[in-house]
Amino acid sequence: MSGILCRLEEIPDGDSKGLSLEDGRDILVVRQGGAVFGYQNVCPHLFTPLEWQPDDFLDDSGQFIICATHGALFQIADGECVAGPCQGESLTQVPLTVEDGAVKLAQ
Ligand code: FES
Repeated sequence: MSGILCRLEEIPDGDSKGLSLEDGRDILVVRQGGAVFGYQNVCPHLFTPLEWQPDDFLDDSGQFIICATHGALFQIADGECVAGPCQGESLTQVPLTVEDGAVKLAQ
């Protein structure tokens, strides 16, 4: 079935995963229980990818998305930068839904 990005269980609870969309955008997905939060994998500071290493987008506490380049911290729930050189800016949201255990783009 089209539109499925991955299965929810492919993302450990409280962790993150990087994915590429059919339109070429790279995104990150953070899972918190049954909820997922999607953002384009682009830091609003210098437009670089965010991750330290593949699928590793969160800081040590697991409470924030962190940019590997200069350490900016972003809130998981809304993507707002709360510390770092792009404070006050935000990651670009990619709305996602979970249906029958499948992570999909929200229409
Ligand atoms: S490029 Fe992300 S904080 Fe500078």
